[in-house]
Amino acid sequence: MKKMTVHVNGGYDIFIENGLLDKAGELISNVLKGKKIALISDTNVYKLYGKRTECSLKEQGYEVFTYVFNAGEVSKKTDTVVEIVEFMAESGLTREDGAVALGGGVCGDMAGFAAAIYLRGIQYVQIPTTLLSQVDSSVGGKTAVDLPQGKNLCGAFHQPSLVIIDPAVLDTLSEHFFADGMGEVIKYGCIKSKALFERLIDDDARSFIEDMIFECVDIKRQVVENDEKEHGERALLNFGHTCGHAIEKLWNFEHISHGEAVGIGMVMISRAGENNGITQPGTTDQIIKMLERYNLKTFDSHSMAEIVAAMHADKKRTGSGIKLVMLKSIGDSYIKPVENTEIEKFFGV
Ligand code: GLY
Repeated sequence: MKKMTVHVNGGYDIFIENGLLDKAGELISNVLKGKKIALISDTNVYKLYGKRTECSLKEQGYEVFTYVFNAGEVSKKTDTVVEIVEFMAESGLTREDGAVALGGGVCGDMAGFAAAIYLRGIQYVQIPTTLLSQVDSSVGGKTAVDLPQGKNLCGAFHQPSLVIIDPAVLDTLSEHFFADGMGEVIKYGCIKSKALFERLIDDDARSFIEDMIFECVDIKRQVVENDEKEHGERALLNFGHTCGHAIEKLWNFEHISHGEAVGIGMVMISRAGENNGITQPGTTDQIIKMLERYNLKTFDSHSMAEIVAAMHADKKRTGSGIKLVMLKSIGDSYIKPVENTEIEKFFGV
């Protein structure tokens, strides 16, 4: 079993091992000392792994109250979180009790946010079941829901007490959702680890899945320990996300996955970096080859002008400019603030 500790807020452990889901109760009993657990899951994940998780928790003597919401981003809204906290109250959870998020990013974000606000904060545990949530969203304590005005606009930083990663649950993940997570995996290689990037070329991701998840999470751990609330370095994790988010918006968050949009965003920002003399020539081609290898898109049908215009629509969240995550080369990244008035020129529009 692989283990690491994130040294934020008193510290919490992350465990990674095939089959770990059946040991969830035992691991959780080391950190959640109350008697009751609110298990939060979605309709798809609950069907596959709900009963196993409930059994594992009940074996440790927990009273389990399960809340299942309709799978999909459309559920990630304030109404659902209010339902979850009301469910916690009806179930009589106290400050000693906790929540367990069993699912992908939507589930972890919502259960984490509900845990952040119920009784002004109770403990929660993440059991991520998608590659994207295993390598990224389950670690670091960002919790949120979407508002009609935009994604993730209502949330809190609330670190989990434990993260349990069972790569075996990825066996039921479709190729499409596996590729979605690979977008974030490739991102980690680009920003911090040439070695990971090279291994993803030499070996197939699935052949070293435990090591790969460990490496990604370890990078995230270091970044979050240095900058929990994203005042600086944590923004590096947004490589490819500025263009990617604009593309997602142009598609109305439909027809394109987050990982696909981030992949295209990485190509765009790397190309702009090369054109502005920042990024080593040839880097964009390396990224394109990698994305193709893992069945991700490398371009979008919207024009660069449309994508830049969509970035500007986010201006209210970024003040007088945007912070672009740039690569000097694969594995070497930094943050470059660009004034709003300079964005078109930077992207060659
Ligand atoms: N997903 C980026 C972050 O956690 O900061």
